[in-house]
Amino acid sequence: MDFTRVPTSAHRRRRQSAHSGLFESVSNAEQAIREVRESGRIQIRLSQSGENVVATVQDDGVGSPRSDAQTFFDPFYTTKRPGGGTGLGLSICLSLIREHGGTIQADSLPGGGSASASICPSQ
Ligand SMILES: Nc1ncnc2c1ncn2[C@@H]1O[C@H](COP(=O)(O)OP(=O)(O)OP(=O)(O)O)[C@@H](O)[C@H]1O
Ligand SMILES: [Mg+2]
Repeated sequence: MDFTRVPTSAHRRRRQSAHSGLFESVSNAEQAIREVRESGRIQIRLSQSGENVVATVQDDGVGSPRSDAQTFFDPFYTTKRPGGGTGLGLSICLSLIREHGGTIQADSLPGGGSASASICPSQ
């Protein structure tokens, strides 16, 4: 058995934080579409960029008034109806991913909608 390939708890934590960033982004994308219409398009792309795994989620939902969409990450910032969201989803995921040397970025798209990228080291 090749013990170098057995996931350590650090590997597992890194993978879980990358998963939580992707899950949160998809969940937000779905909610952003529902803000404006019944159905829409969510595109998910997974790629490797140097030593990082990059998960990009793009939607054609409500978008953001700020082009860099930086407010999405402010703790307790939410546009959900009262009781609909904590406003902590992205800020928690960002902290988790940063612990592993990664980050999450978000942008509003010129044609409407938003895109986010969860970037996490693969090793
Ligand atoms: N894809 C997106 N399109 C438009 N707005 C978004 C998108 N993702 C996040 N946001 C904005 O950022 C806010 C904060 O997102 P975050 O995930 O931190 O909390 P939340 O989704 O409001 O609550 P929770 O995650 O607890 O359900 C959202 O309420 C929304 O206004
Ligand atoms: Mg959320």
